[in-house]
Amino acid sequence: MTFTGRELRSTLHEDGTLRLSLEQVSYPDPAADEVIVRIEAAPINPSDLGLLLGPAQVDTLREEGGALLFDVPRGRLSSMKARLGQAMPVGNEGAGTVVAAGAEAGALMGKRVAAIGGAMFADYRLLKARDVVELPADASAADGAAIFVNPLTALGFVETMRRDGHSAIVHTAAASNLGQMLQKICLADGVPLVNIVRSEEQAQILRDLGATHVLNSRDEDFRARLVDAVAETGATIAFDAIGGGTLGSDILQAMEAAAVRQMAEYSRYGSEQFKQLYIYGALDLAPTSLNRLAFGFQWSVSGWLLMPFLRRAGMETLGAMRKRILAELKTTFASRYTRTIGLAEALQPEVLRAYERKATGEKFLIDPSLG
Ligand SMILES: NC(=O)c1ccc[n+]([C@@H]2O[C@H](COP(=O)([O-])OP(=O)(O)OC[C@H]3O[C@@H](n4cnc5c(N)ncnc54)[C@H](OP(=O)(O)O)[C@@H]3O)[C@@H](O)[C@H]2O)c1
Repeated sequence: MTFTGRELRSTLHEDGTLRLSLEQVSYPDPAADEVIVRIEAAPINPSDLGLLLGPAQVDTLREEGGALLFDVPRGRLSSMKARLGQAMPVGNEGAGTVVAAGAEAGALMGKRVAAIGGAMFADYRLLKARDVVELPADASAADGAAIFVNPLTALGFVETMRRDGHSAIVHTAAASNLGQMLQKICLADGVPLVNIVRSEEQAQILRDLGATHVLNSRDEDFRARLVDAVAETGATIAFDAIGGGTLGSDILQAMEAAAVRQMAEYSRYGSEQFKQLYIYGALDLAPTSLNRLAFGFQWSVSGWLLMPFLRRAGMETLGAMRKRILAELKTTFASRYTRTIGLAEALQPEVLRAYERKATGEKFLIDPSLG
């Protein structure tokens, strides 16, 4: 039996028009080691929006024959050459039911599974059997839809902290879905965590989870309190989802100020405490400003990305992380969704504007069966 279904595609044309559309796709019979999964739940994460909308200006949105069109400013096109003209499928991760299986994958037939690998905003997805994870019997597709990206990243931060020789973490945009998972992991593992948010409501979300260090970057005394929190926890590594602006710099500066407090003598080179800032998101697209003279010479700023981290960490670490995620699927790694939408609804202008905001606690889930 041939499976045919819709796939959400994002195409950036050379003239700077970005087009979102639903395309009809036919899937070949699965090879011996493959399965076809009927997608039943797929979260819309910020990284999906990075591909779906790319550098488009959302306020230029217009409808045309069931598709949505946007303009991409000329200046942003040069870094997009590799995707020009390609109808790119979207959706990093998702969960659903195996509806066809190759000869070697028969045991998965009818099973509820989760997978990461792109093209999940679709009715069906053809996958290698080794790339799907069977969900526990009591888990729904929604429970299993987001078990890769944010859970592995949150666990990856703690693993990176240990591997890099640090003992406490500073985290920004900390009330995010990922940030809440990180807070729960840190409490369970005894890792001190300094959370930075930008509103009192977000601070309360984290305090309700048991967070002890929550700072609001909009408070007048934020910088002073950050130095105290860093000194108290000994945090020398930070994960920053925002990227643009000066917050990363403020964090390195606070780490340096906390280290200088411990120094018996002044040094023109600053402290010898090594400070690491990892930028892992682009919630603010502005350039990153570093007031480097305020944090001495022992520091590093670099990017952090899940897949390269997992390759470096190795199969054993990945296996242990997956095991923990499945065991704590409905607690530590539970994702809450404000709204579940159909595939076609994802292309309704007002719905798109709502999920594009990436607001705290406003995560959307796609269930293609809804239309
Ligand atoms: N590098 C990687 O491998 C990797 C892997 C997974 C996730 N990520 C990144 O992790 C981040 C969190 O993902 P998520 O799914 O947990 O997000 P989410 O639940 O959608 O939450 C996004 C959070 O970011 C805040 N935010 C948005 N724009 C902001 C800005 N300009 N300044 C400060 N805060 C801002 C929102 O707060 P408001 O309500 O105040 O807007 C909200 O709390 C994203 O940036 C994502 O791209 C990266």
